[in-house]
Amino acid sequence: MYFIANWKMYGSLNSLNSVKKVIRLSKKKKFKRAKIIYCPPYTLLNDFSKLTKKTRIKTGAQNCHELEFAGPFTGSVSPHMISSIGVKYIIIGHSENRFLGDNNLIINKKIISSMNQKLKIIFCIGETIKERKENKTTYVLKKQIIMGLKNIKKIDNILFAYEPVWSIGSGIIPKINDLQNQFKMLKKFISNRFKYKNPTLIYGGSVNQKNVILLKQINEIKGFLVGGASQNSNKFIDIIKKTII
Ligand code: PGA
Repeated sequence: MYFIANWKMYGSLNSLNSVKKVIRLSKKKKFKRAKIIYCPPYTLLNDFSKLTKKTRIKTGAQNCHELEFAGPFTGSVSPHMISSIGVKYIIIGHSENRFLGDNNLIINKKIISSMNQKLKIIFCIGETIKERKENKTTYVLKKQIIMGLKNIKKIDNILFAYEPVWSIGSGIIPKINDLQNQFKMLKKFISNRFKYKNPTLIYGGSVNQKNVILLKQINEIKGFLVGGASQNSNKFIDIIKKTII
C-alpha cells in the first residue's frame, strides 16, 4: 500500500523533526508493506531526500517544468534538477495545477520529461463537480489518461491517483459504491489500453484516519494520496496504522 504525503505549499525546516516519527514507524516489521512517499515543497526536497536516504521512505516533488533539463524559465524547476538530488517520485496533473493552467498537453510533456529522468509518476486525474453533475466523469477521466499519457507505452512506473476535484480539501468523499465502480472502470480501461494487468491505482481526496477504514475495503485501491492529514505526523501515522492492521 502506498501512503503519499502531499504537503502542498506548507512546511518549513522545522517540520522535518515531526517526520522522524514516521521514519521510526516505517522501520517496524509490521509496516514493511507501507510504501511511504513524502512530497514536500521544493524548498524542502533536498533536506527530505537526505533525511530519508537510508530509510524505506522515498521523496517526491509536487510538480516540474515541462522541459527536462534547463532553460530561461524564472521560478521553474526541471525534472533533471529534481532527480539529481535523489528524489524518486513526482506528482503531475494535480487539479490545483490544472487550475493554474496545466492542460493535458502540458501534463503529457511533463510526464515524458520526468520519465526520461527515471522519476516515478504520481499521475493525478479527477473530475470537477460540474463535470460530475453533467455525468461526464468517465469521459473526463478517460480523456485525461489518453491525452496525459500520449506516446507512452509502458506504465510500470506510473501510479494513477484518482482524486475527484470536489473531494480535495472538502472533507467529503464519494459514496463507497460509486467509488468502487469508478475504480473498476479505471482498472479495466487502463489494463486494456496499456496491456498491463495490474495498474497501480490510488485514491486521493479528504482521506483521514476515519474514512480510510471504508476506503481500504475497495480492492482496486492500492494506496492513498493524502493532503491535509499528512502534515500532521500523528494523523498520517494513524492513517497508515488503520490501513495496515
Ligand atoms: P486533501 O488533499 O487530502 O487535503 O483533500 C489531497 C490532495 O490534494 O492530494
